[in-house]
Amino acid sequence: MLATQNHGVALRQDLSLRLADARRRTDELFSLVHSDSLYDRPIPERHRILFYVGHLEAFDWNLLGQRVFGLKRFHPEFDRLFAFGIDPVGGGLPDDQPSDWPAREKVYEYAGNIRRLLDEHLRQDVSPARYDEFPLSTLLNVAIEHRLMHAETLAYMLHQLPLDRKTPSAQTHSKETEPVQPRMIEIPAGMITLGLEHSAAFGWDNEYELHTAHVPAFAIDQYEVTNGQFLEFLQAGAYQGKDLWSDDDWNWITASGISHPAFWKRSGDEWLYRGMFSETPLLLNAPVYVSHAEARAYCRWAGKDLPTEAEWQRAAYGSESGSQRAYPWGNDAPHGLLGNFDFSSWNPTPVNSFPSGNSAFGVADLLGNGWEWISTPFAPFTGFEPFPFYRGYSADFFDGQHFVMKGGSARTAACMLRRSFRNWFQPHYQYVYAGFRCVTR
Ligand code: AVJ
Repeated sequence: MLATQNHGVALRQDLSLRLADARRRTDELFSLVHSDSLYDRPIPERHRILFYVGHLEAFDWNLLGQRVFGLKRFHPEFDRLFAFGIDPVGGGLPDDQPSDWPAREKVYEYAGNIRRLLDEHLRQDVSPARYDEFPLSTLLNVAIEHRLMHAETLAYMLHQLPLDRKTPSAQTHSKETEPVQPRMIEIPAGMITLGLEHSAAFGWDNEYELHTAHVPAFAIDQYEVTNGQFLEFLQAGAYQGKDLWSDDDWNWITASGISHPAFWKRSGDEWLYRGMFSETPLLLNAPVYVSHAEARAYCRWAGKDLPTEAEWQRAAYGSESGSQRAYPWGNDAPHGLLGNFDFSSWNPTPVNSFPSGNSAFGVADLLGNGWEWISTPFAPFTGFEPFPFYRGYSADFFDGQHFVMKGGSARTAACMLRRSFRNWFQPHYQYVYAGFRCVTR
């Protein structure tokens, strides 16, 4: 009994520390924004920056305040206003004005009150607190990972904020690597595991249930497609003719006037790379970040395809012997020599920077340095059950209009580099830290 209690306390302390860490990450992001830009909307589909100051706390409060701690709402209007922080799908772009939003002081006061109230109660003994069959630790993991996901989506939102509206944070400059020699790696047919077992520490609803899939033989790019490779595609007229695009994708390209990746900028007859805090000549060896639509157009041009979720999983975690690894490089927990992830940089590195992170088959940079677009639409695995306390997290996006992304970016927290984690976005969205690699079958 005592042992379980001690375990409960230690677990809660660990989770409280992780929550504090995640808060530091999101606080750091807001502190980069010049105060006269807090009401800006750097990405037209997203909310204004200030919204997220309220949203991150409102989410935790709506999840834990009443349900777990039995606390009374003190600002129901804000609880609703800041409840949902994801991009609207379909319909037009949001047209709210800065004056539609509350004063920043009110939002900061609301946010501060929530942190204080939740922290007071997290310190007390709430180990028996459960919600249905879910222990408190599951709800805390939801709060932590939700915030860490926003730490990433906020980073790519602030990436689009003009350079003179943000304060540069310490920058790491990527080291030179050997020039990238593109190469495809043969992956023999074999079995692979997808999903997560119920006894696991934590996973989101869409990661369940654990199952296996047989993957026929295929070949996959050793490296993600680089800016240099994508430049050849652009120079071959990629954005100038419909041939390589589906009707939907071409309509989007033409209606939005898109003629290059969102992270590129034309300057005279040179291409610049739009980094987080500076513009540099295009990094030819870094992975290109593009929408799913641009990725599949490139694949068509190259006579190749995007990988399926099972193919990506096999290239990343499978091996000749049939055994599977926890991570592409083996079973060690993620660390800084294995890839560009866990906030180690604001920008991508060359795709061949971390050979010790290679998978058993020799595929490079699978975790970190940019999510990878998958051809598989985001859909539930057999046995999927939405979390009763957050029914829409995944289920709202099982609409055939979203595609799976695997891997992770420089701004993906280490805890989400687990094998079963699945990310997703709609195909006409250029702002994600996401690229791709091709397969042939
Ligand atoms: C899982 C990254 C697609 O940002 O749209 C944040 C995560 N869901 N708040 C998103 C999310 C609700 C979601 N992604």
